[in-house]
This record gives sequence, structure tokens and C-alpha cells, in this order.
Amino acid sequence: MCGIIGYCGHRPAVPLVLEGLKRLEYRGYDSAGLAFLQLNKLEVIRSEGKLCNLEEKVAKTANTFAPISIGHTRWATHGLPVERNSHPHKSNNNALAIVHNGIIENFQELKDELLQKGYVFYSDTDTEVLANLISDELDALFAAKFSKKYEQMQAELESISQNSLQYLPYMEEAFRNALKRAHGAYAVVLLSPLIPQHLLAARLSAPLLLGIGIGEYFIASDVPAFLPYTRDVVFLDDNEYVVLSASSYAVKNIYVGEEIAKTVHHIPWDLQGAAKDGYKHFMLKEIMEQPRVLQDCLVGRLQDDMVCLPELDTLAVPDSIRIIACGTSYNAGLWSQYYLEQFAEIPVTVEIASEFRYRKPILNKNELVVVISQSGETADTLGALRLCREKDYPVLGICNVLGSSVAREATVSLYTQAGPEISVASTKAMLSQMVVLLLLALYYGQRKKLACPVREVLRELKALPEILENALPKMRDKAKEFAFQYAFAKSFFYLGRGIAYSLALEGALKLKELSYIHAEGYATGEIKHGPIALIDPDFPTFALAFDDENFSKVRSGIQEIKSRQGRVISLLQEGTTLENEDLWYIPKTKLPEFIALPAMQLFSYEMADYLGKDVDQPRNLAKSVTVE
Ligand code: F6R
Repeated sequence: MCGIIGYCGHRPAVPLVLEGLKRLEYRGYDSAGLAFLQLNKLEVIRSEGKLCNLEEKVAKTANTFAPISIGHTRWATHGLPVERNSHPHKSNNNALAIVHNGIIENFQELKDELLQKGYVFYSDTDTEVLANLISDELDALFAAKFSKKYEQMQAELESISQNSLQYLPYMEEAFRNALKRAHGAYAVVLLSPLIPQHLLAARLSAPLLLGIGIGEYFIASDVPAFLPYTRDVVFLDDNEYVVLSASSYAVKNIYVGEEIAKTVHHIPWDLQGAAKDGYKHFMLKEIMEQPRVLQDCLVGRLQDDMVCLPELDTLAVPDSIRIIACGTSYNAGLWSQYYLEQFAEIPVTVEIASEFRYRKPILNKNELVVVISQSGETADTLGALRLCREKDYPVLGICNVLGSSVAREATVSLYTQAGPEISVASTKAMLSQMVVLLLLALYYGQRKKLACPVREVLRELKALPEILENALPKMRDKAKEFAFQYAFAKSFFYLGRGIAYSLALEGALKLKELSYIHAEGYATGEIKHGPIALIDPDFPTFALAFDDENFSKVRSGIQEIKSRQGRVISLLQEGTTLENEDLWYIPKTKLPEFIALPAMQLFSYEMADYLGKDVDQPRNLAKSVTVE
């Protein structure tokens, strides 16, 4: 995900900003850039690819002693990862440059308005629209006060550095006016030659924090960016902006402009810990950020209670779908079969990529191939994709990494927008795949004009981030408790029925890859056809018992295990109960999979941590399996 750092103080700002960007590298990015003032002129340097490319360009630039600078690493989600789309973005009149994380949802509407006024856009980004919107607001204020626009004031502006406060109120007001019109999510930082000693920064639904030094202030999307200099931090809240200089800062409300008293927090982490946002492992961090992932996956894909996937509009509605993937991504695909068949009434086959590609597979006429891959580089999945493309079948790639091979080679791609996943075991990526697949089912239901409950499902989906956010701390406690109780096990069954079946497979996969405990996922109804022979007091079961039409059958399955002295952890929703001592309640929702999945991830995490395993890098595993 994108990273931001801004600095004003007594040190040379450009090298400091570059160092800060390096400390944000772990988030993943595909281009980077920075801006500073040189002889009170705005200079912007940007570069595709790694930070060393940017460093090389910066090294060729004369003044790196500027005391104020902003920088950005971009992880493209909208618009290609090319230099013209990387940040900072300048306004047409060079009055300001901004860096921005998040998505301005109404950017097209704002852009159309600015195009009509004669603004020109050099990138595909919403950020450039915001930069010009701020400068347009500024021009309106200048026209009212000085009867001139910014460009016509160049002569007066040359003497600005001596008297920077003169224009600060105008810039602040323009900044606020523009942000009031921007819907969506943003963490934004502004640098302008009009206010050469100040930075302005604001947030709405995207992290932004102020670092407080002595004679210097920092603004960043994440603590590691400035951690070598200070651990004193002010967290900005939604609809707040901050005016900072080397000697002071003031946090204010965007809507009323009034100053807000903020608490300074002291960060106890060291640099390495902070890269994990204070979590012990990346895996835990990635599990805990799933409420945000749920939100991010929806951004730009819903309009008036309808699902919009414009990437697919030019492809015909398929008669059947073949989903191909490996590991956790396969489990997400299997899960989606239920919804694609239910909501879109399209028959679905789900295949393991390494099996599919070595058969002589027969695909149906008008069949859509969907390949799912977090990394977009898994060799078997790519092999299957290529096989289908050679046969001229349309392939939809669902992946998380922009510009990956799957994304490039598929006919069309949908990005899951989960942000980089660093822990080898996939967690948030699967959740994001499930969101996209559910949207896909609704989308085809819409296109086929079926009576599918789009509105109701979207309502449930939109409520999930808050439900999950509130549930996570309690779920972690419960996971710890059960991990402690069940760490004796050498083997585990995971059982699920209906939509819970694929989750049972995923629960078992997570447990074995992290804690090296043997685990098998089964369809609850299948257990009595053989596997139940294994049950004894030392062979526990993790059963998923959602409050749906399968509940009574799942309850009978659990009873069969209990009556053979098998110990069972039952994951069930509030409002239901079972004759079992180890009950794990999750909140009631019509989409319990999105809560149960993080619960099982936490259980595997706590088990592995308790047993002293290498959680983020389990033995023998790699993040992306690029060999067959
Ligand atoms: C398990 C896990 C793997 C991957 C599999 C496919 O936690 O991460 O099973 O899901 O290797 O990887 P992608 O999705 O990158 O194709």
C-alpha cells in the first residue's frame, strides 16, 4: 500500500524523506516520488520502480538541503504504475503539490468540472484532480481578495519566503474547501511555494500521523517513516487537518476550522517492531487489518446499491465458469461456487491448477475461466491460464499484485486491493478474494436480471468491517485460550457443510502450514463415511456450525463425534447453542464466513506462536510458488 512522509525542520529534508520512504518499503510499492522547494520554486522528482531509481534521479539534482519536503511510495490500484501516475502531483499552475493515499470516489465528477474550466490532466489519478481542485479554490479566493489569480501574482510571490504567513489563511481555506468536496478516503499532504515554511495535511479514513521532534515535525502514513527521530506521535482523526512548520503545529477540524487539542502518544516500539505496526508478527497484523481490507475491496465497486465491475462489461455473460487456483486461493474459489450458483445461476467447476493443466481438459462453449492468485505469479495457476488462453477461452484473473503475470496475461483482471501480504501464510488476501468473488456472483445475477438479493447482501457486506473490528480482540482471546487447551493434538479434523465446507479446508491448511500439526478438512456429512474411525480423545475436531439451513445436520455430526469421546471446538453464531463445552461464539451476521475465517486464522496463529514456530516464515514454504 502507498506510503507518505513529509518533513519540516532543521535537517536537510530531501535525504530524510528518502530514508523515510525506505522504511515504508515493506508495504510494497511500484513507484515513488518527492517534492521540495528550490529558490521557492516547486520541484518534483518521480520514478517508476524501486527507490534506488528515485535516489539516482535525486542525486543529480542540485539542492538537497531544502528544509521542507514531501515524499510518497505508490502501490497502484487505479492507473498504471508509471511515472506520470506517481506522486507528488502538481496543480496546473504550479501553486502546490500533493501526495495522497486513498481513493477520491467522486473524482470523475470533479475532473469533468475542472476540464470544463480548462484544466489539463497529465495522469490517470484522482490525486491530480484533488491538486487542481485545491488550486481552483485558491484562485477563487485570490480573485475575490486581490482580483487576480495565482499565476498573475508571480511578481509579488517572489518575496514570499520573508512573509510566508500572509498567504497561509488562503491556502488553508482552499485546502479545506476542496476536501469538503472530496468523497471517499484520503491521507493527503500539501507543499506550496506560497507557504514555504508550512505543510498542510489532512485525513479521512486513511491513516496519517504527526511526529513531534524538537525544532522539527514529521507527517506520515505509518510510524516507521520517522521512528529514528521521534517516538512522540499525534494520531489524526477523520476530518482533521494539521498545519505544521519547523516550530509549531495546529490540528483543526476541516469543517469548522477550529483548533483541536490532541494527545501526544509515546510509541514504545523499536524500528523492527514498528514495521509490523507493533504486532509481533506480520501475520497477526494482516489478520487484524481485515476490517480495512473488507472496506478497501468495495471501494469503487458499488453504486446505488448495485455492483459495478466495468472490467467485465465487455465480456458476454458465461454459460458456465471454471475456477482454477492453488492452496488458499483454491479454497476461496470453492467457497464462491455456492454464491455463483445461487445468485448468478451459473454452473461452476472448481479445479486445482496443478491437476487441471496436466489433463486434457474439456471446456464448455461460452465458459469463462477464472484464475485466482494472490501473488499472480504461481506457476501452476499461470500454466493453467496460458493453456486456456491458447484455446482462446476468456480468462478473468483475480489477483492482489498489480502488474503481476496473471494480471498481464488474463483477458481481464480484478484486483483484490488487500495491500501487500508479507506473511507467507495467506490471510487477508483470501478474505479479499472472497469479497471480489461475492461481488462477481451478484454482478452476474444483476446482468442476468435474476431476482438475486443484491441490496440485502451489500447491506450485510457493508456492515461487516465494523462487526469484525469489534469482534477481533475477543476472538483473539478465545483463540489463545483454545490454542493453550489443544496444543497437545497431533492431528485435527476441520468440519464444515455448505458455505462452511471450503472454510474447513482453509482452517486445516492454516493449522498445518503454521503449527505443523496434521489437519484435514472434511465436509461434515462425509465424516461418517470413513474418517470417523480416527476419532478418539486425542484427535480433536474444529467444527463450523453456522446458523443456516445446515445447522441441525451439523449439530448431529458434532454429536456423533462427541459420542465417540472426540473433543470438539464448535464455532457458532450468537443466538444458537450446542451440547458441547468448547463453544466459540462469533457475532450474528448473514455472512458468517467473513468472521469465521479470521477466527480460524487466529486459532492457527496462536497455536503456532504458542508452540514456538516461525509464524511469518513457516519451514519449506515461500510466499509465491513460481516453480511447478
Ligand atoms: C497458504 C498459501 C498458499 C497460497 C498458494 C497460492 O497460506 O498462501 O496456499 O494460497 O500458494 O498462491 P497464490 O494465491 O499467490 O497463487
